[in-house]
Amino acid sequence: MESLRILLAVVLSLGTASAASLGVVQTEGGSVQGRNIPLGVFRSVDVFKGIPFAAKPATFEKPKPHSGWDGILKATKFAKRCLQLSMFQTSQTLGSEDCLYLNIWVPHGQHVSSNLPVMIWFYGGGFMAGGSMGPNFLNNYLYSGQEIADRGDVIVVSVGYRVGTLGFLSSGDSSLPGNYGLWDQHAAIAWVHRNIRSFGGDPDNITIFGESAGGASVSFQTLSPHNKGLLKRAISQSGVALCPWALNRNPRKAAEEVAVKVGCPTDDRMVDCLKSTDAVTLSMAAPVVQQGSPDNPGVKNLLMTPVVDGDFLPDQPANLFHNTADIDYLAGVNNMDGHLFTLKDIPSLGNKNEETPVEDVRRLLAAYTEEKGQAGLEIAFTEYTSNWGSKPSQETIKRTAVDIGTDYIFLVPIQTAIYLHAAKATSGRTYSYLFSEPSLIAGPGKPYHDWVGADHADDLQFVFGKPFTTPKAYGDRHRDLSGYMIAYWTNFARTGDPNKGNLKVPVAWPEFTGMGHPFVDINSKMNESSIGQEMRLRFVRLWLSTLPSLPSYHATDAQ
Ligand SMILES: *[C@@H]1O[C@H](CO)[C@@H](O)[C@H](O)[C@H]1NC(C)=O
Ligand SMILES: *[C@@H]1O[C@H](CO)[C@@H](O)[C@H](O)[C@H]1NC(C)=O
Repeated sequence: MESLRILLAVVLSLGTASAASLGVVQTEGGSVQGRNIPLGVFRSVDVFKGIPFAAKPATFEKPKPHSGWDGILKATKFAKRCLQLSMFQTSQTLGSEDCLYLNIWVPHGQHVSSNLPVMIWFYGGGFMAGGSMGPNFLNNYLYSGQEIADRGDVIVVSVGYRVGTLGFLSSGDSSLPGNYGLWDQHAAIAWVHRNIRSFGGDPDNITIFGESAGGASVSFQTLSPHNKGLLKRAISQSGVALCPWALNRNPRKAAEEVAVKVGCPTDDRMVDCLKSTDAVTLSMAAPVVQQGSPDNPGVKNLLMTPVVDGDFLPDQPANLFHNTADIDYLAGVNNMDGHLFTLKDIPSLGNKNEETPVEDVRRLLAAYTEEKGQAGLEIAFTEYTSNWGSKPSQETIKRTAVDIGTDYIFLVPIQTAIYLHAAKATSGRTYSYLFSEPSLIAGPGKPYHDWVGADHADDLQFVFGKPFTTPKAYGDRHRDLSGYMIAYWTNFARTGDPNKGNLKVPVAWPEFTGMGHPFVDINSKMNESSIGQEMRLRFVRLWLSTLPSLPSYHATDAQ
């Protein structure tokens, strides 16, 4: 026993002693040194936190190159997140204007790595909030790239970008065009492309990935002509540029609201006045997403978002898919992605002791089909209630409301983006998924109804390997699922095919361009049967063809 222990100690110390590490790395701004974390015998990861990829940005200006530094930058602490409203106390801000920093995780085996695929992460948070490290989760940051880097043998980079007023305010014209947060992301991609070789990465194999507003950001980055030649692949989880909340079609109105709040005129003096207002005041004036109601769903009030600016986005997103022709694209949706939001719009939905009136479901649908008036509502309501029978159960009624939210907010626009990507692709491949692992907080004695599936953001913990990092909070099936997702995601980053790479996958994921528009249904019980076809085609048709073919109704027409 004792000798075994000594042997083990010797082996472990040998492993540590010979752990490969990059040491000091030269970047265009100067040298940086991170920290080497030994993970086992002949396995370690170098972690670099808080490397600047641009200078501290000036208010309402594109990011500019960093002027560099002397000596060795100790890259061992996450930088502050970009200035934003506190989610919990909307009268306070968090973070700093000086926030254009990125973090890098580089895995090593016995030897220092070279030419690894690179995955760049963009966080979600409704373009209003978020940070490159994510929330702290059982003493571990949600977006730590360590598990993905180690298990998938890829470099992971996570990036800070401006959000809220400072990231996305737009006057709707060239005097204050907006999209500052998207320019930040682009600057980070370009920095990685120029510098990642020194970290052992392959600048020609860069994948960007993100979730929610981060998934939409990924989509915007692939659609912009400014990333030509910088990107090879992209993964959008629960968000694309075509989502109704992702693009502000009337930015001037939102800008005027901010102007009024900070005491600026709304005439031709507005832009100069906004530009000379201090950053904290501007951040505080961000329109807050109100608690929704069935008649005014919350997602319709997300107002500081990307815009068609004629530069980063030269046209409507749907018209820009030719720019993605050579990019491999993997995208998907959670089967109850709309649950979190619909719950806020119809509070009885989440209450196990309260009934949801059918009238509330109708009102929610009326709000989402508003432009098509009564005719649109009737057609959509008939479609969504076609399986109701004469006496629908409360579960049926509540699930229908969640389906409406999921379809409108996420599923239909995501399917549309996947179709458009496949239609315009030349060398780029297309893959579609549905994530359907039941919510961990659903069931008897837990907050959610037992029928609640994969809610918004439920996928994140599995992609980032939390069941491995904090094993006590999860079961073995969650580790299986996390392993599957890391395998698909990192294989895709390595080869453009989620099935081919270093890691074994539970079922071959067919390309979307095959027969019947296949998708893979990802959950902990997946097997060879986990392939579906034409995801919710009936409802995709409703929103994409039936409703748009009806004449649009505007409130003013009625007068
Ligand atoms: C980058 O990915 C491609 C596949 O798209 C692969 O053929 C190539 O070998 C990779 N580059 C390097 C240098 O490994
Ligand atoms: C695949 O999984 C489903 C659902 O868990 C199950 O019903 C089915 O029997 C499984 N099929 C195979 C071939 O294992």
